[in-house]
Amino acid sequence: MEDRYSSLLSSSEDGAPKKRFSEVQKERREQAQRTVLIHCPNKISEKKFLKYLSQHGSINNHFFYESFGLYAVVEFSQKESVASLQKVTRTPSLGTEAAIPFRSRYFNLKLKTPLNQTSEQSSIQCRNQSSPSSKKLFELLCCAESVDDQLNTLLREFQLTEENTKLRYLTCSLIEDVAAAYFPDCTVRPFGSSVNSFGKLGCDLDMFLDLDEIEKFGTHKASGNFLMEFQVKNVPSERIATQKILSVIGECLEHFGPGCVGVQKILNARCPLVRFSHQASGFQCDLTANNRIALKSSELLYIYGALDSRVRALVFSIRCWARAHSLTSSIPGAWITNFSLTVMVIFFLQRRSPPILPTLDYLKTLADAEDKCLIEGHNCTFVRDFNRIKPSGNAETLELLLKEFFEYFGNFAFNKNSINIRQGREQNKPESSPLHIQNPFETSLNISKNVSQSQLQKFIDLARESAWILHQEDKDRLSPSNNQPWGLAALLLPSVANSMSLAKKKKKTSSERIKNLLESIKSSSTENSTATNG
Ligand code: GTP
Ligand code: MG
Repeated sequence: MEDRYSSLLSSSEDGAPKKRFSEVQKERREQAQRTVLIHCPNKISEKKFLKYLSQHGSINNHFFYESFGLYAVVEFSQKESVASLQKVTRTPSLGTEAAIPFRSRYFNLKLKTPLNQTSEQSSIQCRNQSSPSSKKLFELLCCAESVDDQLNTLLREFQLTEENTKLRYLTCSLIEDVAAAYFPDCTVRPFGSSVNSFGKLGCDLDMFLDLDEIEKFGTHKASGNFLMEFQVKNVPSERIATQKILSVIGECLEHFGPGCVGVQKILNARCPLVRFSHQASGFQCDLTANNRIALKSSELLYIYGALDSRVRALVFSIRCWARAHSLTSSIPGAWITNFSLTVMVIFFLQRRSPPILPTLDYLKTLADAEDKCLIEGHNCTFVRDFNRIKPSGNAETLELLLKEFFEYFGNFAFNKNSINIRQGREQNKPESSPLHIQNPFETSLNISKNVSQSQLQKFIDLARESAWILHQEDKDRLSPSNNQPWGLAALLLPSVANSMSLAKKKKKTSSERIKNLLESIKSSSTENSTATNG
């Protein structure tokens, strides 16, 4: 039996060697190609179902889940089994409607005769694909033994499960089959939080249509004096080529893609994309093309996430805290993104003494010839072998780090300084955006250019308030109040500062309380007293 929780994470906790990002991607992709997705009748005998499918070959692994019906994910040992199953599968004849006969790996299973209620119907165990409710989370956090335990609990409850990860790679693989109708050797790869080890159950599925692999086929040296090239259509720019490709794939998904609904082509965005819902998996998908740097960023975050077990616990909690206070949103806008928050946590961990995470420049110095990577003129080289990176000598607890994170950013000189994980130190801001976080690879870009002054201020206020709450708890440690949310749970409750601004500061008493609160933070912060004003 496989570990229920993401064995994709090169988990260091169990002492197993950490897997390289490319290895994980390769393994998962190959696994997904041998896997099928089946919509099942609600009442089904698991034993008979497996026996029926085994006619096509041995089954490595399977699980059921619920999402507007019962679904099964079945992984065969051999790819040939999928072809064998497809061979005996028919296209449905639908009374008045007509079917588009696209033969995918997403099936619908029907019973010829209903199951005999009593004898055959066994209860199917479904794997949960969503994160716990806030009520459940609060219960779990309040039962935890320490703040460290709370952060680890939150991570355990929210991280992608093994099954959810499989479903993500399978969905990419199903989309790849559609795209392959045009580009037979294309690859659709997941990136972003689905693979960077910071994904939370329910997060979107970012995928990228990779056509570069196709290019590689033609690169081996041809002998003799001849050189053969394809006749192709030319367009004025790379961007236009991407838009054209995504446009046809979008059409294809809309018209032929089983289970793909709500297809939107967002081709004029900075990074053109096709957005759709994959109904069967329940994933909101963003398909991009020509987006190699984003894949490289995912790999970098994966490495940072695997270097020290505190990183993911801290990032998950900060993301959850930001979501609870509406600092982040699923709608694009002037708010901070999860990606920016993750980079801020990495930066903070680089600033500890001794550092918990190395700088990107240091990871670059450890790289060997094989790690060299240049994308569109940007140097994206860093070491990918974990064995060459020394673990940190820093033993600070998660509780301390959480508190210090809030203090650090509650007092950061955002008006002057830029956050830079390449060098692991503040830089002078090159432009006047309220929040400046240098893009690690396209170093002239700011990944948080969209963030407004008022959103930044809200982040600062909440960070200060959270630091204060943790500080107060430290003082009251000996007399914990019964049944009161404490530690991380207290930080996720609606904020005093926030509800105050909503109430338009009606009550003078609470406004004074806030003022005192902020004052107490300022005076209690030891170093870095360069508080931003405004
Ligand atoms: P979720 O909120 O869980 O989806 O996190 P995510 O990391 O997947 O973020 P998102 O879906 O917004 O973006 C997917 C990936 O695109 C990120 O992981 C980054 O690699 C990249 N990305 C997102 N926003 C930016 C940006 O502003 N600049 C750059 N360079 N890359 C970005
Ligand atoms: Mg995402």
